[in-house]
Amino acid sequence: MKREEILQRLQGDVSLPALPEVLLRLDKMLKDPEIDVKEVAQLASTDAVLSGQIIRMSNSAYYARGGTQLTSLQPAIQRMGLRALRGLVFALTLPRIFQDGGDQFPFKSMWRHSLAVSAFSSELVTEIGGSPEQREDAWLGGLVHDIGALVLTSLQPREYQKFLQHLRERSTSKTEWDERELPDLEREMFGIDHAEIGGIFLKERWRLPEPIPEIARLHHTLGWEQGLPKGADRNTILVVHLANGICSHYGIDWNPVGMEGKAFQESAWEAIGLTLDRVEALLVKVKNSLGIAETLLSGGE
Ligand SMILES: [Fe+2]
Ligand SMILES: [Fe+2]
Repeated sequence: MKREEILQRLQGDVSLPALPEVLLRLDKMLKDPEIDVKEVAQLASTDAVLSGQIIRMSNSAYYARGGTQLTSLQPAIQRMGLRALRGLVFALTLPRIFQDGGDQFPFKSMWRHSLAVSAFSSELVTEIGGSPEQREDAWLGGLVHDIGALVLTSLQPREYQKFLQHLRERSTSKTEWDERELPDLEREMFGIDHAEIGGIFLKERWRLPEPIPEIARLHHTLGWEQGLPKGADRNTILVVHLANGICSHYGIDWNPVGMEGKAFQESAWEAIGLTLDRVEALLVKVKNSLGIAETLLSGGE
């Protein structure tokens, strides 16, 4: 299957998962400034798995901070706060919905990586004094930045798995330094890479608002040719790009050669007002982010 066919199937293929109804409705509800916790709890309770996960998360060390054990949804939501809930609900739900990419696809490490990038991105936004909205965007953008790989593997499970297998072999036998990154190799093989396909999927199929599709599209290259991204969402895009590179650098990655985000533009650090020597101080946050990722993956258990 080549680029044109992939793009065509991306528009109409019914096997690609839709954004779950409960997520869509919750997302809409949570954007309403007049929002009522009771209504949110009512809607979340229509998804039994999600409700259980929200209650468990509210009792996890991260949110409970020594508080009492909660057993119902409304106080659980109150404890976590409505603002945090949107990103949390996405983080708890998305790993459940892409299941058909073949049993060889490293789903677990992919979500572990994505959740860590998500948590670290929102830490970075706080670090640079970004707004709560930017923090939310960075969280969600980090979470879905690699979703294009899931789309590719859903559309052609056997080919993508063969491709990953080839990369695994190549990484063990590699004798020469190869500068090509995952997107370069995907483009050679499929005529499109996971960043581009992810951006289109998030925009056209899931209809997520900007900057989420843009974050996915630019998370590797930042559009090198045009320089750093511009506009109001620039910092959010840069933050996810950097968080992806850092997590990958510390081995929190999903693809066999670990070259995901091997390179990041150093100028991106400067552009958001941080310097590379701050990285060490930020490492504690990477560790925390991984802890949050693991708590989320286990649904708070
Ligand atoms: Fe990626
Ligand atoms: Fe990534």
